[in-house]
Amino acid sequence: KSSSKLSHNFTNNNEIHTSAARTSALLSTSIGFQLNPINITSYRLASTNSTWNESSLPDKIKSLDEYKALYDLSINDPERFWKMAAEHLDWYRFPTKIKNTEFDYRTDRGVDIKWYEDGILNVCYNCLDRHIDHDSSASKQVAVVFEPDTPTETRHHVTYGELLRDVKKFANVLKKHGVKKGDRVTVYMPMVVDACVALLACARIGAIHSVVFGGFSASNVAERISDCDSTVVITSDFGLRGGKCSPLKSKIDQALKMKQCSNVRTVLVFERNYGNNADVKDACSDQRGTLEWKEGRDFWAHKEMETVNENCPPEKMNAEDPLFILYTSGSTGKPKGIVHTTGGYLTYTSLTFKYIFDYNPGDVYMCTADIGWITGHSYIIYGPLSNRATTVVFEGVPTYPDVSRFWNVVDKHQVNIFYTAPTAIRSLMAHDDKYVTKTSRQSLRILGSVGEPINSEAWKWYHSVVGDGRCPIIDTWWQTETGGVMITPIANAWELEPSSATLPFFGIKTQLFDKSTKKPLTPPNTGELCIQDSWPGQARSLYRNHERFVDVYFKQYPGYYFTGDGCEIKKNGYHCITGRVDDVLVISGHNIGTAEVEAALNEHAGVSESAVVGYPDKKKNQGMYCFVVLKDDTKESEELRKDLIKSVRNTIGAHVNPDVIHFTPDLPKTRSGKIMRRILRKIVEPDTSNLGDISTLTDPSIVKELIKKSPRTK
Ligand code: WT7
Repeated sequence: KSSSKLSHNFTNNNEIHTSAARTSALLSTSIGFQLNPINITSYRLASTNSTWNESSLPDKIKSLDEYKALYDLSINDPERFWKMAAEHLDWYRFPTKIKNTEFDYRTDRGVDIKWYEDGILNVCYNCLDRHIDHDSSASKQVAVVFEPDTPTETRHHVTYGELLRDVKKFANVLKKHGVKKGDRVTVYMPMVVDACVALLACARIGAIHSVVFGGFSASNVAERISDCDSTVVITSDFGLRGGKCSPLKSKIDQALKMKQCSNVRTVLVFERNYGNNADVKDACSDQRGTLEWKEGRDFWAHKEMETVNENCPPEKMNAEDPLFILYTSGSTGKPKGIVHTTGGYLTYTSLTFKYIFDYNPGDVYMCTADIGWITGHSYIIYGPLSNRATTVVFEGVPTYPDVSRFWNVVDKHQVNIFYTAPTAIRSLMAHDDKYVTKTSRQSLRILGSVGEPINSEAWKWYHSVVGDGRCPIIDTWWQTETGGVMITPIANAWELEPSSATLPFFGIKTQLFDKSTKKPLTPPNTGELCIQDSWPGQARSLYRNHERFVDVYFKQYPGYYFTGDGCEIKKNGYHCITGRVDDVLVISGHNIGTAEVEAALNEHAGVSESAVVGYPDKKKNQGMYCFVVLKDDTKESEELRKDLIKSVRNTIGAHVNPDVIHFTPDLPKTRSGKIMRRILRKIVEPDTSNLGDISTLTDPSIVKELIKKSPRTK
């Protein structure tokens, strides 16, 4: 039976509830009709003969059947699947060994992951030169659209030809300053085209970049510089975000005064104020000319680029040579230096980008992440550029100059594919819809979401208000450690369900486990999410700390990669991420996911955002404390408080009773938009004497406010 009619086919429908009803109606028909073919569990376990008879991968995945055939192949014959995937890249030597991986730490070999191990390639060549080598007209195609913080500031778009020229020159600057293959280079940049130049130049000469998000404090940068022994730092004099000036170079100056950074010998500084915009008055204008400058250590990148030539052959890299290190904070301890390598990472990010977002030549793609995060690495730079896409680099924030900014940018650059985070969606949703509806957004075709669970109210708003009911929502689940998207819809290939990342990508075999018995669970079920076998994009290790890598990800469930997330797999095989497993409360013997309570609170018409944490309680084991941010037009009141408690009970069950509802204008968040639950837990414990480092918050002052107002600290 054909299932090709299952593709996403919402019609123009602005009414949220009708549209949602339609979603579930379509979904249930498809399930009833399709039970066997789309039951992931049944076909995952069955040893099927793949129905994929071609010798190469298709250009697009158009239906669930097509997905299923390829998914079977990718699981049953990963060598064949990932060989075909690697053919999408250009190699100096195509690998003869595709997969050589071991997940079980108890074996003699131990955890060891190698893909394409005898292959030789260069990532920068694959992202730039090869498009021009295959088709000279590519040199005139726009590679990066730059959208500056101030919308009126004029900037040139950068073509593939121009980007390649700048990358070659900057790569030669790095070489001139003694950077060699395998050296670590720390990058501390704002969201500007030069950040792409810096990363691609490192990749071109085989240097390992370690990007530190521009919002991190001097001591955080220092810690990350010294952990990977960088001797060269790339930065910018200033950055602009939301109309505010961020003095990046002076933070590097501070960092380099710290003893642990004494090995840094060179700082290359890009100028935020390009020559052609010298007359623009911005928030940094007053600070220009006040830079501290250490002769012999600090160099202007643009001046150095004038001293080198444009000839820089790409370094021939082994597939398993490291491409970059990216630090991510663990739940405890110092940040983990996640190591990604060359061949597998690029194969994986390139293929996921191509299929998931249904990228067509000529499309304009925009991802609002920062290059300081994995999303920026994989889906602003490497995934899009390796596919010859046009990618938007957006310097600003969603609320500046006003809350229409995203949608104005979409109209200005005619963005077709737009990828953002639920936290941004929720914050924009708190304002009047007119900020969205007054813009056209007709160019939009596909909307993506990443970073945390997207509650169904936000999903529906994104779908019906932002997308006018016509764009599929691609809810992508993945992690810094996974390199690329792992569980996700493929645009227009199958039905969507609000708050579900739907199905695993090719080669990804999910497995649920029971948290207490550690036994595997058979779906439909809810448990701890593990991945059964390796995929090319996964991190290989933590920088110089393989032992911690094994401890954190491979010890809980021997033979499996442990994600740290909870997940529900439904009868139709759809996956719903329920949140970090460490964010589960145990109250009076009931396990309660804080994410579940937050989702319930967020469904309330007056709520913009919430964060739920537990505190010790002698009677109930834990009490439930809810921080609630209200929408602009909603006032806090005793009545509203009761109403919220009632709606949580109604949504999840009468055993779920919030003990404290704390109204606050904001929540402590990291620059990537993650709520810092660690701090909230300390506030409500209460243990406010030792809050740890709060300098990485977007607004550290909120912490004091919360402590002052919390009934538990009185
Ligand atoms: C954690 C990874 C992946 C790039 C950005 C975050 C949560 C991420 C989703 C999603 C539910 C999600 C998970 C995951 N997460 N995407 N679509 N639905 N949860 O990377 O900082 O390494 O965080 O973010 O909890 O483990 P990261």
